[in-house]
Amino acid sequence: MDVHVRLDGQRDLSGQIYRQLRTAIHDGLLRPGDRLPPTRELGRRLEVARNTVGVAYERLVAEGYADSRVGSGTYVRTTGLPMGGTATATDTTTHSGLRPRALWAGLSPWAAPETSGPTTAAHDFRVGLPDARLFPYDAWRPLIARELRFSAAGTVGYGDPAGHAGLRAALARHIGLSRGVRTGPDDVLVTTGTQQALDLIGRVLLDPGDRVAVEEPGYPPARLPFLAQGAEVTGVPVDAEGLLVDAIPPDTRAVYVTPAHQFPLGMAMSLRRRAALLQWARRHGAAVIEDDYDSEFRFGGRPVETLQSLDRDGHVIYVGSFSKVMLPSLRVGFLVAPAPLRAALRTAKYTVDWHTAVPTQAALARFVDDGLLARHVRRMQHTYATRHRAITKALTDHFADLTTLVPSAAGLHVTAFTRGHLTEPDALADLAVRARASGVAVYTLAEVAANRSACPGFVFGYGSISAPDIEPGLHRVLGQPRDS
Ligand SMILES: Cc1ncc(COP(=O)(O)O)c(C=O)c1O
Repeated sequence: MDVHVRLDGQRDLSGQIYRQLRTAIHDGLLRPGDRLPPTRELGRRLEVARNTVGVAYERLVAEGYADSRVGSGTYVRTTGLPMGGTATATDTTTHSGLRPRALWAGLSPWAAPETSGPTTAAHDFRVGLPDARLFPYDAWRPLIARELRFSAAGTVGYGDPAGHAGLRAALARHIGLSRGVRTGPDDVLVTTGTQQALDLIGRVLLDPGDRVAVEEPGYPPARLPFLAQGAEVTGVPVDAEGLLVDAIPPDTRAVYVTPAHQFPLGMAMSLRRRAALLQWARRHGAAVIEDDYDSEFRFGGRPVETLQSLDRDGHVIYVGSFSKVMLPSLRVGFLVAPAPLRAALRTAKYTVDWHTAVPTQAALARFVDDGLLARHVRRMQHTYATRHRAITKALTDHFADLTTLVPSAAGLHVTAFTRGHLTEPDALADLAVRARASGVAVYTLAEVAANRSACPGFVFGYGSISAPDIEPGLHRVLGQPRDS
């Protein structure tokens, strides 16, 4: 363990070493069981006699902070430390006069329902998570391992900000085939998830004060990158066909939409509405940001054309993500932008983080090229379709008096508006709290949506819940006695 010790002058050198090591143990920087540097080595580094360090160590041992093991060294004591366990680092910076720009005071990450890690809940209706239990780890691991060798190109030097050439080619083919997106490898920019794609778009497109229209209710994280550019973000209502194009303010510079599977309601934007949105964008010279998340999993109905493939005038920026088809923790997404934006977007990407991790990109390229992605999507499509059917049937068969299901044929969640006594926000919130206390991870529409006053309802994710657990889980949420 390389410990930083700073000596001042020539007096009481042993005492100085002793006190700093003791503080490091108190602050938890040196943890129980850690080996202190050999006295000879620390003495050499500090340019003091070995014995000076030895005296400091003896004091730590005498006071119960360390144990000396003959022939092995001196170790931080594992039990019965004088301060009664590991402490956290003292925060010496709370008095700093440094402050973020005022803009940042009003921004915070999505206070989302938990979206990380496994849950202890018996019934997991969390939103936005694929089934990590079914990820093809055995196929993925050798691909990553292959990239983490010296001979692999990805391990040497920096990569192209626009992304790994093989992945861009694979992606262009993949979305061309599966989504009808008209693109080539040079048009694709690999990003660290959708979130970064939106950030890059905001950077190159928006001036402070520009207006961005977003869906309401909508996906909360999408607003942040625009707000961080100083843009005005305006919520525009949606109906059963998607965004109400007539309600977009005329001075809007960019419109962010989720046409494949509206977040959080779940319906697809109708073809008629898509055409109207494109016409609006053309008339107003605005950009349309198409977040095509959740489009990979469809359960019937004819797929509607992407806005990008319908666009004839270069108004659409298409954004895709691997968070649902692979894993959100990989943080890989991409965008396809009209030609005049590409150079600026590539420079913006370079500015932000140079490039997305190359070994992950290279492994993903092979995953796509070798047909493993298509195979995984096919398998998961079947699994999620079964769950979608199970949840739709259970809600219709057992809870039609309490809920109205929003029709949806894609994605990893369904939304059900609530009726009767469950239209009252407090009653609904109370039901959700009690459900969670009883081991069901479930969230109301207001909890997952930007626009807290969204219609009363629940958003039921089925990415992480097995089909047989769905109906019992719903009973534990909606079958609760009214006043328990
Ligand atoms: C509307 C929407 N877009 C995109 C994403 C994926 O975002 P990312 O690629 O940053 O993980 C999600 C994830 O839940 C989402 O709900």
